[in-house]
Amino acid sequence: MAAGDYNAVRNAIRKIIPQASYDDGSAGPVLVRLAWHASGTYDKKSGTGGSNGATMRFKLEAEDEANNGLEYARKFLDPVKKQFPWISYSDLWTLAGVVAIEYMGGPDVDWKPGRVDDVDEQYVPPNGRLPDATKGEDHIRSVFYRLGFNDQEIVALSGAHNLGRCHGERSGFEGPWVPMPTRFSNTYFKLLLRSQWHRRKNSVGVEQYNDEDNELMMLPTDMALVKDPKFKPWVEKYANDKDAFYKDFAAAFGKLLELGVVRGPEGKAMRQYARAKL
Ligand code: HEM
Repeated sequence: MAAGDYNAVRNAIRKIIPQASYDDGSAGPVLVRLAWHASGTYDKKSGTGGSNGATMRFKLEAEDEANNGLEYARKFLDPVKKQFPWISYSDLWTLAGVVAIEYMGGPDVDWKPGRVDDVDEQYVPPNGRLPDATKGEDHIRSVFYRLGFNDQEIVALSGAHNLGRCHGERSGFEGPWVPMPTRFSNTYFKLLLRSQWHRRKNSVGVEQYNDEDNELMMLPTDMALVKDPKFKPWVEKYANDKDAFYKDFAAAFGKLLELGVVRGPEGKAMRQYARAKL
């Protein structure tokens, strides 16, 4: 297979998404989470973190407790990396998020190759840059403003919780947000507004919000989106206008995957360019 044939890589990623014995039968959601956590360490002021470098390969970042469970996503992608050794992990992880969203019925997201993997731990960002789900709107804003997102983009990105589930042994939270967690949709926003959510301690003693049957869940940070007067209008918009959500999600997710990727003349991501901005 020719180096640079990203369509071939996309096809290979599609093939590993169905995983009969894993979660809801799909690797899709955890691949989206990998792409987000690989990118969400960015810090706008210092230019550090972000998807370039694939620094989650190194112990310090892999063991950040926010990244618990992402070893599954990285392992699902191992055969693809073996098949296409020329693609960097940083391109593969971000591309897998894009392919998974499309595969699950979501929008097409612009994606550019060129990220370069770091060869040592020099640029591993510190732990603790990813959001803490036990917190509220101030914390959400401090994390996402650091990444360079505004309130509208924060709500659009949060719509990724249409996908997948929480795992007690990974995050302490339990359950899916929506009844069909492997189909991309705006159901999450509809449920945030319409369901009766009650606060309760789950089976491992962590406080979360559940619906009447305790089948669906919301995190404290999800609930903050309907409590906060600036976030809530965006939740209402996306609940009522699926097309607007898809369009805004695609733009914000594409922007997320480019964070910290400073491109040289040939589109290759350059570490030294990012450092030069410090
Ligand atoms: C799962 C927190 C934003 C995508 C989770 C889980 C937590 C969490 C606690 C459960 C992990 C587990 O137990 O396996 C948060 C917080 C956010 C946030 C606090 C912001 C305030 C986002 C964003 C995206 C995203 C921006 C993507 C654009 C996902 C996906 C899953 C997930 C797809 C499901 C993973 C799976 O099924 O394995 N998130 N998240 N999240 N998150 Fe988020």
